[in-house]
Amino acid sequence: MSVGDYDPYTGQRLTGHEWNGIKELNTPVPKVVWFFLGVTALFAFVYWVLMPAWPLGVTYTKGLLGLDEREIVREKVVEAARQRTWTQRIAQEDYAAIQADAELMQKVRQAGRTLFGDNCAVCHGTSGKGGPGYPNLADKAWLWGGTPEAVAETIRVGINSDHPQTRTSQMLAFGRDQMLDRTAVLNVVAYVQSLSNPALANGPEKDAITAGKAVFEANCVSCHGPDGKGSTEVGAPDLTDGFWIYGGDRQSIFDTVWGGRQGYMPAWEKRLSDVDRKILTLYVLDLGGK
Ligand code: HEC
Ligand code: HEC
Repeated sequence: MSVGDYDPYTGQRLTGHEWNGIKELNTPVPKVVWFFLGVTALFAFVYWVLMPAWPLGVTYTKGLLGLDEREIVREKVVEAARQRTWTQRIAQEDYAAIQADAELMQKVRQAGRTLFGDNCAVCHGTSGKGGPGYPNLADKAWLWGGTPEAVAETIRVGINSDHPQTRTSQMLAFGRDQMLDRTAVLNVVAYVQSLSNPALANGPEKDAITAGKAVFEANCVSCHGPDGKGSTEVGAPDLTDGFWIYGGDRQSIFDTVWGGRQGYMPAWEKRLSDVDRKILTLYVLDLGGK
């Protein structure tokens, strides 16, 4: 048998190789192999042209795109150094100086949004507007004071937390603990409602409100103040504004006065670094805008 013979069964040419009567067919290389060979060669060629490729003694072909890994690394190092300096500035400068620097505040907003989303949003909401039981941080009503130092302290030690210096928030359970009877509670609730809505004072509940005022003066002013404007010393909220933690409807206020409230906020001193807490303080103060 010689090259050029045909296989009688398949009609294919034979290569002329034979092993123990087994003859090898001369099947052509599949088209798909040629195709990919072509594509790879083309890719290699385009790659040489565009990217750094061939060594030429002391230099090399730079490629049309001019990409240079060393340049990329250098840029990353510069960027990392810039990142470091902005957190250093946060650590060193005082609140007023940072707040006055628009570029630095931009960084605070970016980093703050992530920190807030990861740690605070579960309770205070993604936009910091709170919800029933969780105060709105974007309004101007502060339980514990709205200076940077006060906010930073609240975040550091928490409220009713396990931190030794925690802020302690105690709204007493006047009804449940039998300091006031049901009528007295209902009256003082009516009075509290009239604080933020003075029109009620001349309405049908006039008498209850008058009676409630006396109850308030005897039981509530020590924390909420004679005019109901609250105190940041004990975290007692201003009852005369329209902001409510637990709700300003009659039932919610009744529940508050009857059963008391002890808001809980974790301490962050051990969980977040000083810089992170400072960023959050600035972020929280920035939430309500100027
Ligand atoms: C487990 C829920 C919870 C988490 C998580 C939480 N808080 Fe609070 N936060 C509260 C509650 C409840 C209060 C109000 C407590 C009270 O009634 O006095 C509060 C109060 C505050 C206050 C005081 C508001 C004021 O009016 O004085 C600030 C500031 C604050 N939180 C910031 C933060 C920041 C920043 C984070 C994230 C690092 C955070 N909180 C995480 C529950 C939470
Ligand atoms: C020992 C101090 C103290 C006394 C006394 C006190 N409160 Fe409070 N009150 C607080 C504190 C602190 C809070 C905030 C509780 C919290 O959020 O954890 C509060 C919250 C409230 C709230 C909820 C406000 C909101 O935004 O939802 C109402 C209403 C209220 N008090 C009414 C009263 C009335 C009425 C009395 C008198 C019968 C009274 N309080 C006496 C400390 C006090």
